[in-house]
Amino acid sequence: MIFTVAIDGPAAAGKGTISRAVAAEFGFAHLDTGALYRAVGVKGGDPVTAARGLEPTDLARDDLRTLEAGQAASRVAAIPEVRAALLEFQKRFARREGGAVLDGRDIGTVICPEAEVKLFVTASAAVRARRRWLELGGEAAAQPYAAVLAEVEERDARDRNRADAPLRPAEDAVVLDTSDLDSAAAVAQAVALVAAALAARG
Ligand code: CDP
Repeated sequence: MIFTVAIDGPAAAGKGTISRAVAAEFGFAHLDTGALYRAVGVKGGDPVTAARGLEPTDLARDDLRTLEAGQAASRVAAIPEVRAALLEFQKRFARREGGAVLDGRDIGTVICPEAEVKLFVTASAAVRARRRWLELGGEAAAQPYAAVLAEVEERDARDRNRADAPLRPAEDAVVLDTSDLDSAAAVAQAVALVAAALAARG
């Protein structure tokens, strides 16, 4: 069975939590495409060469989730040759046998416009920054909340305004605003949507 769930949205909107839960619920494979850009961003050297030579060990680094890695990712993600180098792998993953969930910025618009389910997960910048700050340790985090908010807003602006594959909902995406939802409620909505699409396929 070929079945793709595309989950896009701005920084720290909860895409990862929802994607992992949907993949586990339906037994689909999951690809966090942000990790590809983060790995290219932290690798150093020429980003196009890094993207073309990306290896599994690059994705296993433990510094991919830092604010600096997020910033580096969004800078290299604006380079068309970097995006092109990562395109085929993501397209193949999306249409692999057995079902796939991919989360990122351009899954429903560029990587897999034919996805059976498209979700655009969003929330206010303040809510998203607070979640990311808590994820980084809250009061124990290296950065204060204000720095995390500034990082999230700067990265969103760069991702929305780039020429190649800008962050935007696909026309046929369902928008899920999680500003007032806890993660269990957001997951439940996503699972219900996928279940309905699977049932409609028969
Ligand atoms: O987890 P968070 O939402 O903060 O970020 P991420 O999904 O790990 O993505 C990091 C950065 O990679 C984003 O800010 C984008 O610039 C870039 N990215 C992209 O351009 N296209 C994707 N499909 C996924 C990520």
